[in-house]
Amino acid sequence: MAGSSTFDAEKVTDAVIEGIAKIKDASTMEGLKAIKAQYAGADSVMTQASRAIGGLGKDEKKTAGQLMGKLRADFGRAYGLKESEVKAEDEARKLGSETVDMTLPVNRKPIGSRHPLPKLMEDVEDLFISMGWQISEGPEVETEWYDFDALNFGPDHPARQMQDTFYVKGNQARDAAGFVGSNMVLRTQTSSDQVRGLIARGVPLYIASPGRVFRTDELDATHTPVFHQCEALAVDKNLTMGDLKGVLDKLAVTMFGPEAKSRLRPSYFPFTEPSAELDLWFPDKKGGPGWIEWGGCGMVNPNVLRSAGIDPDVYTGFAFGVGMERTLLLRHDINDMHDLVEGDVRFSKQFVMGE
Ligand code: DAH
Repeated sequence: MAGSSTFDAEKVTDAVIEGIAKIKDASTMEGLKAIKAQYAGADSVMTQASRAIGGLGKDEKKTAGQLMGKLRADFGRAYGLKESEVKAEDEARKLGSETVDMTLPVNRKPIGSRHPLPKLMEDVEDLFISMGWQISEGPEVETEWYDFDALNFGPDHPARQMQDTFYVKGNQARDAAGFVGSNMVLRTQTSSDQVRGLIARGVPLYIASPGRVFRTDELDATHTPVFHQCEALAVDKNLTMGDLKGVLDKLAVTMFGPEAKSRLRPSYFPFTEPSAELDLWFPDKKGGPGWIEWGGCGMVNPNVLRSAGIDPDVYTGFAFGVGMERTLLLRHDINDMHDLVEGDVRFSKQFVMGE
């Protein structure tokens, strides 16, 4: 090329100005690279000009060198700026296309939810444990002896019919304590764990026995043939009804809030003497605060202590039993027992928060 050996300051300056203008208009890395090849590559005006500097005289060389330095720097700066701009745009475009659209419907797997009843039972257990009591669980298939006889229900005692019992076929007790011959039943009450606990653990004794019990009830709004109770039994020296009342009030407050309290009304149970119905003062009762029947309680009947081989002249005790479903129905203003037993996860889900 004829002009390749001459240094043309104007030509190279115009070329670089043109190149910088193209750089400013570029919007892709490919475009930028092509501009770089055209204006700063091996065959570019700029490279030719640089080469031509060698043939110049000393002073011209200096001026031409300074010009080339400036042109290269200007070109390089413009290129660098645009390059980072284009790269940032590419990155943003990439991120944009990868964004998850949160509004799209998803293939969600339904998850279950804990039933409120076991949670309630855990809360009750925690309360007893916090008071230093032990948790005891007797068997659900129980000897008639523990469920009735040991609890001072006489053989023909009408109280035996008070609770409609499921008798277990075979009717042969194979009980560790040796009460062979006693009928087997599905326990009708967790009170069946009283004498079991006394025999197994001795005195002094502070146990709570939560668990399932069974009665031949039809399922309706307030009954179910399988339900849950928590029995509490304390046997020690010098226990009084005052101790019983203290524990009941503590349980009431824990379950129903700071204003809750208990009240005892005289009643009869074969295994307690004196016996009382346990009422609960329920501040959040529908239709205004009021008393609600909650369970049964009393001082352990001396005959029950004797069943366990304990001297009632030395030891006294108190006991109470509350229904767990009943507690849950009251606490959450649930009107129908069906909701508790039907296993609809939508029901359980209502209790997840803060329960
Ligand atoms: N076991 C009784 C029931 O199922 C409830 C009960 C009453 C338990 C009095 C007790 C008690 O410990 O002292 O109806």
